[in-house]
Amino acid sequence: MTARFTGKVVLVTGAAGVLGRTTAQAFAAEGATVVVADLDENGVNETVKLIETDGGTASGVVVDVTDSASVKAMVDHAVSTHGGLHVAFNNAGILGGGTPVGEHDEDVWNKVLAVNLTGVFLALKHETAHMAANGGGVIVNTASNLGAHWRLATMSAYSTSKAGVSFLTRTAAREYIQQGVRINAISPGPIDTPMSYLPGETREQRDARLAPTVPLGRVADPREVANAVLWLASEESSFVVGHDHVIDGGATA
Ligand SMILES: NC(=O)c1ccc[n+]([C@@H]2O[C@H](COP(=O)([O-])OP(=O)(O)OC[C@H]3O[C@@H](n4cnc5c(N)ncnc54)[C@H](O)[C@@H]3O)[C@@H](O)[C@H]2O)c1
Repeated sequence: MTARFTGKVVLVTGAAGVLGRTTAQAFAAEGATVVVADLDENGVNETVKLIETDGGTASGVVVDVTDSASVKAMVDHAVSTHGGLHVAFNNAGILGGGTPVGEHDEDVWNKVLAVNLTGVFLALKHETAHMAANGGGVIVNTASNLGAHWRLATMSAYSTSKAGVSFLTRTAAREYIQQGVRINAISPGPIDTPMSYLPGETREQRDARLAPTVPLGRVADPREVANAVLWLASEESSFVVGHDHVIDGGATA
């Protein structure tokens, strides 16, 4: 595999989590200097350590993606520590729901929208400000197939937040492409991370619940999703703009 990201500074949010960590490691393995960002400080340190142990370069920053000043400080950290910001993967997210709209906890609704949708808005706001003024860049946002592409009863807040990410991606892509900032999204189906488990569920129970919903017959390995993120972040996808790339084993085909 050629090193597609040598000389690039790549920011990953949610990088203490499974998909973010896997993707951060994949970027580092292809030459990127990675800024590992998450609310979970221990997890940030662990991801940085894993990258460095493998011979890569990374620094960590604790961020709350719902807080504009914190998100700006994250972008400033990338620029002041590593001299720039070329790629951002806005991936932090939470699940939330489990009840019909009429019984939906309002605090949960607000929290899910704040992290999943406003979090991506704030990241785009501060990242595009830097990139547009400094020769451009590439951004990939994490939406979900459980958003603009599908519905699951009792998941209204999550689905609405992720559908919002898909449409925010399209809007921002049109706004910034002429300034050299290329913006796309991914919409994964179920991935083998803790988020794909119901509380107390075993792997066998999770697989028995989710595998029949995926024509490929299984949940995704996080690396299969990371591969798509790296492609969207690389020059190989240079003509792809405002696209919401579904990676769901055929679930919404
Ligand atoms: N796992 C799946 O089946 C699946 C499917 C489709 C989409 N997704 C999306 O993929 C992304 C990554 O999910 P994952 O499965 O790796 O989950 P995960 O829980 O392992 O990782 C999510 C990370 O986001 C971080 N985070 C939460 N709130 C934050 C905040 N306010 N500020 C900064 N960081 C915060 C968490 O600390 C965590 O490390 C999420 O956006 C999720 O919605 C996951």
